[in-house]
Amino acid sequence: MIDKAVVRVPGKINLQLSVGPLQKDGYHELATVFQSVSLFDELTLTPIESGAITIDCGGKAGVPEGKENLAYRAAELMMDRFDIESGVAIKIKKEIPIAGGMAGGSANAGAAIVGIDSLFSLGLSRNEMEKLGAELGADVPFTISGGTAIGTGRGDRITPVLSRGTYYWVLALSTSGLSTPAVYSECDRLREGMDIAAPHVSDELLQSLTHGDAKSLGKKLVNDLQPAACSLKPALRLILDVGIDYGALGGIVSGSGPTVAFLAENEEHALDLVVALTSSGVVGNVVRAQGPVPGARIVTDRT
Ligand code: C5P
Repeated sequence: MIDKAVVRVPGKINLQLSVGPLQKDGYHELATVFQSVSLFDELTLTPIESGAITIDCGGKAGVPEGKENLAYRAAELMMDRFDIESGVAIKIKKEIPIAGGMAGGSANAGAAIVGIDSLFSLGLSRNEMEKLGAELGADVPFTISGGTAIGTGRGDRITPVLSRGTYYWVLALSTSGLSTPAVYSECDRLREGMDIAAPHVSDELLQSLTHGDAKSLGKKLVNDLQPAACSLKPALRLILDVGIDYGALGGIVSGSGPTVAFLAENEEHALDLVVALTSSGVVGNVVRAQGPVPGARIVTDRT
């Protein structure tokens, strides 16, 4: 056993999120294209003797430090499945927005799996770790694989896709989050009485990625949860309009929101967009990120 594992894990945006009808299990069948972007959380895991699991997020508002934290549940699952008798202390440094539609909670679970695999030398393959992640939440497997990938099923069956080049994103962050189940229910409410087709990934969007063509990708960004997120938080519509007016190649609510992701042509254009959005007064906090980046990775595993 080693003394410490430090894991860095990125947030994600959905370039496309196609949502099928509500199923009996309470989930929706999805066809989505994920991209990991360079906003990172960092988890430091150390073994503790008591057999307990502790989570320390530095008291950050909105992040639970008990069983409700998905990293806690990931640790519990790993200890149980692999008969680990030692406990684990998990420190979380957060950069991914909380309840922002960027899989922050899921990313912490993904990182906890990768960290515990390393800490206790379990030797799991990435595929095995992704399968464990799927038991915890739909977005967890992608936070382990990262890059650019299609997600089907609940969004938990991951297939990597070819994506050339780097994409420059500008993210408009909200001060208050949205609950994922609430956004899905609002989506169902807005769709009442409508026939909903099976979800599918757009071939054109995949082609834009293959060609590394940001301009055409900007036009293909689509999120079926966007109307629901905007209905719960009407200010998002204004933010989307402002970003597009200021020349973003495209803009989309990320996942269940409320983070809004704008695609820029290059780094300089992204900087211009940050300045324009910040001075517009409609967004509090605007940050830049690049994608794709790799999923949860060990940064160091020794003191
Ligand atoms: O799997 P996870 O716990 O992250 O999902 C959170 C909630 O999001 C689910 O309880 C469900 O309400 C909704 N969801 C869904 N269909 C999916 C993924 C999530 O309805 N494919």
